Amino acid sequence: MNTSKTELLKQQIYKFNEWVRDNNVPIPEAIIRHYEIHGEFVVMQRKELGYFPYSCEELALLPVGLENYSMGAYNPCKYTEFKKGDKVLDIGCGVGIDSLLAAIKVGGTGMVIGADVTFSLLRRGADILVSAFPTMAGVDACPTRFIQASGDTLPIRAQTIDVIISNGCLHLLDKSKAFSEFFRVLRLNGKAVLADVVAENDKTENFYDNPLMYLYSGGGKQTQEQYESLAKEAGFSEVQFISERQPWDVGDEPMPGGYLILKK
Ligand SMILES: C[S@@+](CC[C@H](N)C(=O)[O-])C[C@H]1O[C@@H](n2cnc3c(N)ncnc32)[C@H](O)[C@@H]1O
Repeated sequence: MNTSKTELLKQQIYKFNEWVRDNNVPIPEAIIRHYEIHGEFVVMQRKELGYFPYSCEELALLPVGLENYSMGAYNPCKYTEFKKGDKVLDIGCGVGIDSLLAAIKVGGTGMVIGADVTFSLLRRGADILVSAFPTMAGVDACPTRFIQASGDTLPIRAQTIDVIISNGCLHLLDKSKAFSEFFRVLRLNGKAVLADVVAENDKTENFYDNPLMYLYSGGGKQTQEQYESLAKEAGFSEVQFISERQPWDVGDEPMPGGYLILKK
């Protein structure tokens, strides 16, 4: 990315921050606009950070350049047991990196849906996939379909999904509603592998009344125990957490977080 592009993006981010602050923009709207701009900005952030949650083998399977748009710090497929033909839902999929890795794991008879509220990211992911189509020929992967939808209000029929994955989105959702939705759309014995940051203690301020702090501080994150108890309330019979600290942005210490694994 050249400097003028970088400067342009920084100016857009400053303007965006001013707009949010001065107009007290509601959090759901601020989230969409934030990721529209940060989806671009993250290219240089990721290169500077020099950390990718994916193995070299996994990166080699992806269309060239797709990994540059990775905004999650985890790799949910690492802890997911896929079967050929599984139907998978990726919540907050961004450009669809984890969706695509899942599409290769479930093979041509499976189905993957990537859901996100930010249309520009879905569009970019779809465009990269279309242009990468020739290099993907011969790979046994199912098509990935992208839908613009919120993870806590899913336009998906009950008991139709085998596996839900998510990377860096749980803290942005209405957790109680989202866990109920995940429980509703999953088949019996279906699993969800939700990777994200967690709060260190329940005293952590959640910034619901300050959209900028919410966006830049992982505002809606909760503790592992809070997530576990909300998931049980939604009906999940098995709840497990695998802890993993990972860096999120340039200059950040690795943050507490990990993989919340739920079984219906
Ligand atoms: C940190 S990014 C992670 C993107 C992607 N999973 C990845 O690993 O690159 C968080 C994503 O969550 C999406 N998001 C935010 N709120 C959402 C919601 N309510 N429902 C679905 N997606 C949401 C954002 O648009 C953004 O793409």
